[in-house]
Amino acid sequence: MSRLDFDFYESEDPVWNPALLTIPVPGIRKMVNMAASMDDVIHLSIGQPDAPTPPHVVQATVDALNAGQTGYTMDAGLPELLEALAEYYGERSGRAISPENILITTGATEAIYLALTAVSAPGREFIVPDPSFMLYAPLIRMNGGEVKHIPTRAENNHQLDPQEVIDAIDTNTHAIILNSPSNPTGTVYPRETVETIVQEAAYRGIYVISDEVYDHLIYDDRDYASVLSCCSDLDHVMVMSSFSKTFSMAGMRVGWLIASQGAIRKLRRYHMFTTTVANTPCQWGGVAALKGDRSFVTDVVNTYKKRRNRLVELVDETPFLEGYVPEGAFYMFPSLPEGVNGNNVALRLLRETGVCTIAGDTFGESSRNALRFSYATSIENIERAFERIIPWMAKQDFG
Ligand SMILES: Cc1ncc(COP(=O)(O)O)c(C=O)c1O
Repeated sequence: MSRLDFDFYESEDPVWNPALLTIPVPGIRKMVNMAASMDDVIHLSIGQPDAPTPPHVVQATVDALNAGQTGYTMDAGLPELLEALAEYYGERSGRAISPENILITTGATEAIYLALTAVSAPGREFIVPDPSFMLYAPLIRMNGGEVKHIPTRAENNHQLDPQEVIDAIDTNTHAIILNSPSNPTGTVYPRETVETIVQEAAYRGIYVISDEVYDHLIYDDRDYASVLSCCSDLDHVMVMSSFSKTFSMAGMRVGWLIASQGAIRKLRRYHMFTTTVANTPCQWGGVAALKGDRSFVTDVVNTYKKRRNRLVELVDETPFLEGYVPEGAFYMFPSLPEGVNGNNVALRLLRETGVCTIAGDTFGESSRNALRFSYATSIENIERAFERIIPWMAKQDFG
């Protein structure tokens, strides 16, 4: 069980709620800020798509602004977007999803915030894969919940062993967090894994909270097992996603949460007390993304796949890095030899070669010897970065 290294009720500065101490110093910001003060930096650190937003989505947003769509929407979201999402998820998941099962949020970030803070409480335990996206554990801990990590490893493609998850469940377990494809590993869980976890969770009355923001960025024609297509009903699941990654709309801040109608009713009220509603003109952009030509998505998936393949080759050629083939998102999370401090390596790589990566400890405790590479950048940039990384690594003595 992971413990916090501070007393929840003691704060160094009484102005602040001590719960804020659960928020770590963001490793990503630190690196990116340092990189901003340097010349000739190549970024393998970026967590958002590099392709521009499809023009018809931009146009629909501009049209909405011009048509005066600048007020609040309904609290659950723009009805046209709720309808479009219900239809789209109905087709994709093979189950009936109604607009009442959906809440439109300010990016998946708000959906994650609402879901985790609405259910986390002292005495409740949450099973979270490690490494994982850095929001989950602090949001759970901020509300007094505890995090039980399940470590995953590069030599095993960072796959999650469903039996390990089941074995970790105890009487305090309240929810299991899944994120497939994963940030930072790019791992896609096979249907068997998701089904086994979801079914066991339902049987034990435990929630599965599934962050599916990369659900379209899947390579090699793999099957994608959304939690929505693996559960018998929505009673014990909350699924979040957004337009950010699929449609290159990260700054437009439109996401959603899908759950049972009862859960959505509760979360709607909470949403009113956090952001009120999501950005109205950008929700119209979202309607255009779902209803219009979606060939953009196929094109970006093909582009990411080529970059992924090249990155896998280059990592293979790099001394001391143990790679694997990530099957989704736009990240790879290779490890350095056991005991090597990934934070030092990331800092030195940036200072000495001008390549900006993100250290593994940003994403949890089990991967201090890892680096996250993002391939949301051109093949040329990836190749230029490795022209620097490979000779630098060859000079290290990590023995
Ligand atoms: C796993 C994961 N979930 C959620 C988000 C946030 O997405 P949004 O832009 O929709 O808030 C990100 C962004 O990097 C992410 O990597």
